[in-house]
Amino acid sequence: MTNQHIRPNLQNIPFWNPTQILEHERKMHIHRMDLNECPYPPAPGVIEAMNKVGHTLNRYPDGTCPELTPIISERTGVPEEHICWGGGSTQLLNSIAEIAVSPGQNIVAPHLVWKRFQGVYKIVDADVTVAPNKPDGGIDPQALTDAIGNNTRLVICVTPNNPTGMMMSEEEVQYVSDNTPENVFLFMDEAYFEFAMHDGGPDVLRILNERKGPWVVSRTFSKAYGLAGLRLGYALCSSPETVDAIRLVSSTFNLNGFAETAAIAALNEPEYTQFILDSNATERQRIIEGFRTLGFNPMESVTNFVSADIGRPGTAVVKKMRERGIRISTLGESEFDNYIRVSMGVPEDTEAFLTALDEILGAT
Ligand SMILES: Cc1ncc(COP(=O)(O)O)c(C=O)c1O
Repeated sequence: MTNQHIRPNLQNIPFWNPTQILEHERKMHIHRMDLNECPYPPAPGVIEAMNKVGHTLNRYPDGTCPELTPIISERTGVPEEHICWGGGSTQLLNSIAEIAVSPGQNIVAPHLVWKRFQGVYKIVDADVTVAPNKPDGGIDPQALTDAIGNNTRLVICVTPNNPTGMMMSEEEVQYVSDNTPENVFLFMDEAYFEFAMHDGGPDVLRILNERKGPWVVSRTFSKAYGLAGLRLGYALCSSPETVDAIRLVSSTFNLNGFAETAAIAALNEPEYTQFILDSNATERQRIIEGFRTLGFNPMESVTNFVSADIGRPGTAVVKKMRERGIRISTLGESEFDNYIRVSMGVPEDTEAFLTALDEILGAT
């Protein structure tokens, strides 16, 4: 079978399903520590609120989220007409690249960045320049902006970044904003925004607001609000025209009928979000200390996952962990072959992971 009907840039890229449950996993308790999910269910009020809107699902929902948008506007200071919504922030990554970059135009991004961006580059058929990260894995603001050329349309920054978990400092964000030319779109993925705030991170929006050129920030309800299955993310944009363009490429009915109600209910239970962030920080510290006890030096994560160099190929350890029902991941970059990434779970997940790590490494 030929695949000539598929655009050349999209041919022969096999689909990889990150949520697939393997045969042996069906029979055991799985510790899901590979997808940076929240290990706790959504707040009780969210489930109650969703029950109340179930009977309206015969209707298309209003994807502009007219009740939720004013709440986000008030919290962020970004005007309502500068805010739009996506089926998870993943959908917004595609849309942002699509509205900014024509085939063959240039995107500048850090080398070590969330793997999904590889798909985004393919979708828009971009010419991509990757900027080296700093030796500790952090995003290098100077390398990033030095890589901008005449054909560059979009600069991608992720803070805190995945898979490092590291956030940029205020000075670093300022540097990137100041040194991205006014005709280049600056995109900051803040999927882990709430975790960065919990750790005293900088106010990225304040810096971007002072920028003359175009910018967009994406955030999500998937992580700190425990709503990954809901698929709801938002973009805070420098202009209403950006919002219109994103809406055009991401379709009118891109959200599900539960999303707006569930998100409002989640925002109404700040104590629950605080619990999620606090317990995440506790488990993260335990994992970091566990790595250190075994003689490894984990990256300085502020997020709900930690990556560490374990001095041997990560793939083999990930495989052995998975046989035991503990799902973790590699970094998916050849220079970081010896790293593993583990997402924070509940306390029992931490115990299972650290015990297995000790055993597996002891045996290799
Ligand atoms: C950096 C980054 N951005 C975006 C996302 C996607 O989030 P969403 O569930 O909102 O699509 C992830 C998910 O892991 C991520 O790591």
